[in-house]
Amino acid sequence: MRNLLEDGHGRKASYMRVSVTDRCNLHCTYCAGEGREFIPHPNILRYEEILELMDMAVRLGMVKFRFTGGEPFVRKDFAEFMIAAAGRFPGVDMCVTSNATLIGDHVDRLAASGVRRINISLDTLDPVRFQRITGVDLFHTVRANIDRCLEAGMVVKVNAVAMKGVNDDELPAFVEFARTRPIDMRFIEFMPVGLETGWSDASVWSAGDILAQASALAELVPSQQDASGPARTFDIKGGLGRIGLISPYTDHFCGTCNRLRLTSDGNLRTCLFSDKVYRLRPVLRHPRLGIPAVERIIARASRHKPMGYKLLERMVGNGVCKTRMASIGG
Ligand code: GTP
Ligand code: 5AD
Repeated sequence: MRNLLEDGHGRKASYMRVSVTDRCNLHCTYCAGEGREFIPHPNILRYEEILELMDMAVRLGMVKFRFTGGEPFVRKDFAEFMIAAAGRFPGVDMCVTSNATLIGDHVDRLAASGVRRINISLDTLDPVRFQRITGVDLFHTVRANIDRCLEAGMVVKVNAVAMKGVNDDELPAFVEFARTRPIDMRFIEFMPVGLETGWSDASVWSAGDILAQASALAELVPSQQDASGPARTFDIKGGLGRIGLISPYTDHFCGTCNRLRLTSDGNLRTCLFSDKVYRLRPVLRHPRLGIPAVERIIARASRHKPMGYKLLERMVGNGVCKTRMASIGG
């Protein structure tokens, strides 16, 4: 498949993150602060509109979609939608990032329909702390659903936002968690995205520190992996799973970025750290414009995709990226 989305730095977009809602049933401290306002319903792209955009994105060279939120499964009929999308794009990698609180009834059907990859957010292995971070008492549900995904044969990656003073004392438990089950246990450096998230330079538990500390707990061997993903992964010698490090803060991976982001209200973002958006929804819904015009916007936006780390450096100096993570989709 040819790729028409090459940017000015020689990077080709082949992976689209599609946020289907900005709503979430958890209230994680690091994700959104007080006073959140949700996108009004008429502004949320309908499933048919998302599918139309995905058709076009595949034509332009996308080979991977990841559905995100908020929490995608809070949106009505999301599982059915994802199953339909997996059927419509059989050669395309169809993935989802979820907090795994609501997936229990859907896991087997998703796996059977070709959804093979799920990334699950879980920042602590302690039920009391889970409630403190997320505001809900659903730790055991998430744990059970991780096992369910593994039993259904899915590739499971667990994402923990690495925060000093919050979960940095749990590294031995996390390493043991990955040693004893076939998951990627990934630590994501806390990013300054959104207001009132508690982010400060001092709250970042860096990937370098995590690697040094984890290496003292287990023998870690760099894995053979696709360099286009954000994580550096390590096999745990003698273990079933792997450790992954995502280091947008201390060691950015913008040079190999292959992503575009579509927000649930139909904005295209070429970079997580840029507040610049391309408003696709009015063009898509316009009777005389529609998909051909959207396609031109995406091609143009891609050509101007920035080097995100430069924006990140500026953000850290001036405060934070104002847009909530939940409305971008991570
Ligand atoms: P894989 O397809 O399994 O590699 O997933 P992923 O890591 O791309 O997706 P996931 O939704 O699990 O995201 C994990 C973390 O990586 C989240 O915190 C994302 O915000 C972060 N991330 C993903 N893409 C980018 C990116 O382009 N830039 C930055 N800075 N962070 C990213
Ligand atoms: N920094 C790093 N990761 C974050 N996520 C949400 N907010 C942040 C942040 N400020 C993570 C979620 C999810 C992924 C898509 O992004 O925990 O696993």
